[in-house]
Amino acid sequence: MALLRATPEFKPAEVVVAEEVMDSYLADPAGFGYNTLVSEADSVINGYICYGPAPLTEGTWDIYWMAVSAEKQGKGVGGALLAHAEDKIKEAKGRLIVIETSSQPGYEKTRRFYANHGYEAIARLPDFYAPGDDKIILQKRIG
Ligand SMILES: CC(C)(COP(=O)(O)OP(=O)(O)OC[C@H]1O[C@@H](n2cnc3c(N)ncnc32)[C@H](O)[C@@H]1OP(=O)(O)O)[C@@H](O)C(=O)NCCC(=O)NCCS
Repeated sequence: MALLRATPEFKPAEVVVAEEVMDSYLADPAGFGYNTLVSEADSVINGYICYGPAPLTEGTWDIYWMAVSAEKQGKGVGGALLAHAEDKIKEAKGRLIVIETSSQPGYEKTRRFYANHGYEAIARLPDFYAPGDDKIILQKRIG
């Protein structure tokens, strides 16, 4: 939670939702449908990713959330978390991964990161999050 609160890209309301999702996962890790992986060094969590199967689809998975602490960004932690989640999704016979993100300039680095990992922008919902803040839907085929 400290990591999420210190991530400037996330608004306080988004951090509240991320906490609810994590609490639900911790209450029922196997059954909840949201999986969480963390990256840890010296007993400190420096990144996490939350993903799960998209309900009522055949082999489509969502990546709901990911973050790496500011001081550890650009060192490969995010890439390793994403690759590990993709491996887990492949093991579960997933074939398509979807990520939703914002068009805000503050997410430029994030969008480049996903593009460099093979995620293609396939749709844009104008003004979805707020006037001038579009939702961008990214996808990657893995199977
Ligand atoms: C997006 C985010 C998760 C990426 O995590 P990260 O740990 O910085 O990612 P990486 O270090 O694997 O890759 C970032 C860059 O570092 C560089 N890099 C990767 N491995 C590296 C290494 N071993 N040494 C030096 N640089 C490296 C790459 O050039 C990479 O560039 P790219 O983004 O253009 O591909 C992170 O920036 C973040 O938490 N952002 C804020 C929150 C956010 O936007 N979350 C996503 C919301 S949907």
